Amino acid sequence: MRATSCDYLLIWPVMFLMVIKCDALDGFNVTQIIRDGDTLVSAGARFELGFFSPGSSSRRYVGIWFNRIPVQTIVWVANRETPLLDSSGVLQVTDKSVLTLVNGTGGIIWSTNTSKLVQNPIAQLLDTGNLVVRDQNDNNPKNFLWQSFDYPCDTQLPGMKLGRDLVTGFDRMLTSWKSSDDPSPGSYTYWIDPRGYPQPFLLKDSIVQFCDGPWDGMWFSGTAITQADSSDSFQFVFNDKEIYYSYNELDPSVLTTRSLNPYGTMQRYDWNNHTQGWAAYYTKPIDNCDTFAVCGAFGICNFGNSPQCQCMKGFVPKMSRNWDRKDWSGGCVHGAPWNCSTKDGFIKYSNVKLPDTRSSWYNTTMTLDQCKMKCLHNCSCVAFANLDVRNGGSGCLLWFNSLIDVRVLSGSGEDLYVRAASSELGNARTRVAVAVSCSLVAALFLCGVTISIMWRRRRRRRWRIKKEAKYGAPEEGRSINNRIIGNYELPEYAFNVIAEATNNFSHANKLGEGGFGPVYKGLLNDGQEIAVKRLSKESRQGLAEFKNEVLFISKLQHRNLVKLMGCCIEAEEWMLIYECMPNKSLDYFIFDQSTSALLGWPKRLEIIKGIARGLLYLHQDSRLRIVHRDLKASNILLDFEMNPKISDFGLARTFDRNEDSARTKRVVGTYGYMPPEYAIDGVFSVKSDVFSFGVLVLEILSGKRNRGFIHSDHHHSLLGHAWMLFRKGAALEVVDPSIRNSSYASQMERLIQMGLLCVQQHPDDRPSISLVNVMLTSGCELPEPKEPGFLYSKECAT
Ligand SMILES: *[C@@H]1O[C@H](CO)[C@@H](O)[C@H](O)[C@H]1NC(C)=O
Ligand SMILES: *[C@@H]1O[C@H](CO)[C@@H](O)[C@H](O)[C@H]1NC(C)=O
Ligand SMILES: *[C@@H]1O[C@H](CO)[C@@H](O)[C@H](O)[C@H]1NC(C)=O
Ligand SMILES: *[C@@H]1O[C@H](CO)[C@@H](O)[C@H](O)[C@H]1NC(C)=O
Ligand SMILES: *[C@@H]1O[C@H](CO)[C@@H](O)[C@H](O)[C@H]1NC(C)=O
Ligand SMILES: *[C@@H]1O[C@H](CO)[C@@H](O)[C@H](O)[C@H]1NC(C)=O
Ligand SMILES: *[C@@H]1O[C@H](CO)[C@@H](O)[C@H](O)[C@H]1NC(C)=O
Repeated sequence: MRATSCDYLLIWPVMFLMVIKCDALDGFNVTQIIRDGDTLVSAGARFELGFFSPGSSSRRYVGIWFNRIPVQTIVWVANRETPLLDSSGVLQVTDKSVLTLVNGTGGIIWSTNTSKLVQNPIAQLLDTGNLVVRDQNDNNPKNFLWQSFDYPCDTQLPGMKLGRDLVTGFDRMLTSWKSSDDPSPGSYTYWIDPRGYPQPFLLKDSIVQFCDGPWDGMWFSGTAITQADSSDSFQFVFNDKEIYYSYNELDPSVLTTRSLNPYGTMQRYDWNNHTQGWAAYYTKPIDNCDTFAVCGAFGICNFGNSPQCQCMKGFVPKMSRNWDRKDWSGGCVHGAPWNCSTKDGFIKYSNVKLPDTRSSWYNTTMTLDQCKMKCLHNCSCVAFANLDVRNGGSGCLLWFNSLIDVRVLSGSGEDLYVRAASSELGNARTRVAVAVSCSLVAALFLCGVTISIMWRRRRRRRWRIKKEAKYGAPEEGRSINNRIIGNYELPEYAFNVIAEATNNFSHANKLGEGGFGPVYKGLLNDGQEIAVKRLSKESRQGLAEFKNEVLFISKLQHRNLVKLMGCCIEAEEWMLIYECMPNKSLDYFIFDQSTSALLGWPKRLEIIKGIARGLLYLHQDSRLRIVHRDLKASNILLDFEMNPKISDFGLARTFDRNEDSARTKRVVGTYGYMPPEYAIDGVFSVKSDVFSFGVLVLEILSGKRNRGFIHSDHHHSLLGHAWMLFRKGAALEVVDPSIRNSSYASQMERLIQMGLLCVQQHPDDRPSISLVNVMLTSGCELPEPKEPGFLYSKECAT
């Protein structure tokens, strides 16, 4: 069963229950075959196996997907490298005990193999999503002849092992799809490297991109444990027979997967019954500090610092010139000539991800003291740590020669002890002593020097404390809650850096006026272009929006959302610093006759798809459920490749997972983009954004603004105009003449229909953003729209 029809789009919950098959098979034997169009459904109806075509491809593959959800989610593909070109494929079990996929002329497209023959071989889809070949009368997993769980694609399901069988040398790893249209193996793999103390690695074309860190008894040391995660039950097994990592679901009513997408990120998804979509719980890698070895040897990455990389104590940058240019890969070396001695000491780093263990040494029973002695007596040993952090810690890990890929993790991570010369330790101790005496006899000249050094270091922290003291509780006046910014580890820029970058906020650098103040273009010393939003001094409202923006956008990462680089909070100045978008915003292109021709239809379609993906992330894939509330053409920024990025989160709101809509007395947003229920009653929900998205789609197609739309023959708004033409069967007349081109006519008609569905009067009649994404990527038939909301321009202008 393929999602070829979107009939269920608006009424799917009802349809959906009716689709469940009563007499579906979960397996078959040598006398039966599975043709294209037939499917197997596992006994508990969780998974379905059959033929499918991914994305916009027409090639046919045999795969397994979740059975009971309306979003087709492929978890495994059999013939990923050898697609069928037509629907003549047949899946069968042969008397040689193998499962084969043959095409119309009997050519073998794909096959399993086995070293055993059995009397009555059958193929069966288990309720775990595992496809197995076994003897009909023997369902002991040990005796399976073959199982799909041994040949993972891009998805790890509960109960599936990733890792190496040390007896046979057989590896089970994830390999990304090439693209969403092509399941053949892409560039990315995720596997467990068995060298030293085993760790999972994410590779691109066999180059390490990201390392999860060694297992610390509870979780891999490089991943921050979240509440949601700790409820999972993980196993990491490492003995002389096998190394593997797997997880079980604790709540069988929640569907869950972990998969490696074609862009090289690992994500855990849980199905959300409420939004009927997948919710991403975590993404790896998550920030720049997750880039493997970004700070080089003996460097530590801290995402909240600027610069992010620092050398460990006693070390200095190896190539300080590169270091200044933010190329930290050269790493650090000892600051003074290094002589090994058993008198050396160790400096403790807490809450860090442990260094790469591929060439480390370990012992599972040693105590921390024994571990320290072992390290001390080997001159190549540079650090040690506990192997297992449970029950106060046990076991020993030693590192030799070099330490790479260490980062600070706030709230999780481990203790790492790094070797240092006793002379260096001594220095550290005297410095502390001096500082203490200073606070007692503050007038002493000598101490003045020390204070100024310390002052510089602590300045940032004091600023925060001072501000909170000065401006009082977070809710009052100009009191942006610095703790919020602290929590989100947002880098802070100094005022004079930003002033210099923007030519002292010169008029020539002003890009425009944003939600809460002017926006300036700037150029940092390192050549990075930035956009700076400066909160205007009078704006009280602006402060709330500023805070809101920090709160949301620093939590969000998606390629269709604008990226916040940092902030600047000094004295009366509050500023946000973004990556610069060289192509300004969408309104600049589509509403201007001279520039609209630059934006052809294929690009406009890409922009619409990008916005839809960004919204999907906000509505259901990010950890928060966010309604943007001010989606409009001027808030869609364009990067140098004209990729759209949603910006301006000043009015955004989060929703609980169980909440449908909310009501506000203060209707904010932009007329022309607001749905009726919000503009009139103040009620908003994810469907309000869908309405605004629909308006945007029609604006992108027509090159006209909804607000202020005037037609000589009638008083309809752009929406009403599009609806009238659609009903007359002349929808294409609404399209911008500069992009009207018959070869795209059916695509454009389809998007007009989709746009009209999004602007339906009643929120329940509008599709969810996940369905919009399905409509945009598949060729399925769309439902007929009813009359949209805000038909007349008068209404829009109120
Ligand atoms: C194959 O399965 C069918 C239906 O379950 C059954 O009737 C038939 O006897 C089986 N054939 C063999 C050879 O086991
Ligand atoms: C079937 O597969 C064989 C071997 O892969 C190939 O030579 C043949 O052209 C295919 N036939 C069709 C109809 O695709
Ligand atoms: C299947 O056959 C291939 C090629 O002979 C071999 O490399 C692979 O290890 C076999 N797999 C199993 C499970 O026997
Ligand atoms: C989600 O919906 C499915 C199917 O309706 C149901 O079986 C399952 O229990 C629900 N899960 C939760 C957590 O409510
Ligand atoms: C290492 O030894 C050299 C020569 O023996 C000496 O000059 C240097 O100060 C020593 N370095 C440290 C850190 O002790
Ligand atoms: C680990 O250390 C303990 C205590 O020092 C020792 O008895 C044991 O043999 C060591 N194990 C290995 C595998 O080296
Ligand atoms: C120090 O440890 C390394 C790595 O385990 C080992 O090769 C070397 O022999 C050890 N040196 C001494 C003096 O024990």
